[in-house]
Amino acid sequence: MQAEFHQVNVSKLEEVQQVFAHILEKYGTIDIMVNNAGINRDGMLHKMSPENWQMVIDVDLTATFYCTQQAIMHMRTNNYGRVINISSGSWLGNIGQANYAAAKAGVVGLTKTAARENAKKGITCNVICPGFIETNMTLKLKEINDGKPWDIMMAKIPAGYAGKPADVANMVAFLASDEASYITAEVINVGGGMIV
Ligand SMILES: NC(=O)c1ccc[n+]([C@@H]2O[C@H](COP(=O)([O-])OP(=O)(O)OC[C@H]3O[C@@H](n4cnc5c(N)ncnc54)[C@H](O)[C@@H]3O)[C@@H](O)[C@H]2O)c1
Repeated sequence: MQAEFHQVNVSKLEEVQQVFAHILEKYGTIDIMVNNAGINRDGMLHKMSPENWQMVIDVDLTATFYCTQQAIMHMRTNNYGRVINISSGSWLGNIGQANYAAAKAGVVGLTKTAARENAKKGITCNVICPGFIETNMTLKLKEINDGKPWDIMMAKIPAGYAGKPADVANMVAFLASDEASYITAEVINVGGGMIV
């Protein structure tokens, strides 16, 4: 098993194209694509700057389009592939997250379309919606207002605690496996009961 890391701004098409060209030249195949990069710039819609709108759309949606397209172009020639896109329970709408919800809802539409266009090519495309997972994105809530925003989130989770990155990674591993070969165009929540 060999692993290689590259720092890429996935919202820049040229950088995405370069890294895909490198992977194909060196390894000759791309079997699994996980689009996980994401940012948020929260604020009420009536106060949201066009810059914060665009930045979130660029990273959370357009980058997913760039990477999904690059991967699928190759997977179609190979008649095999797994695309796993990370959305969010916020895609259903969440106060203070118009930009993020729009981008993450876009990821759902993009992925379901890719799934249906490529199902006969042995490619599955699915969405995972994490609920509230303990990562750098959420841990900053502990630093605000004596941790009250964090406590408010905990009260919304039926399981009573934040998920761990491994909870999401386990679902990614399952969707990438042969056991998941008949599962496509699905939206799967990993949220301790938070997303209904
Ligand atoms: N943590 C949660 O509760 C939660 C809930 C729902 C969805 N998500 C989603 O899960 C995914 C992972 O988030 P996380 O919680 O680990 O957040 P995080 O902030 O800890 O990690 C996000 C990662 O994305 C990378 N990234 C940001 N912009 C990038 C760019 N332009 N190019 C390449 N990489 C870039 C960052 O470097 C970072 O490594 C995101 O898509 C996020 O929207 C997280």
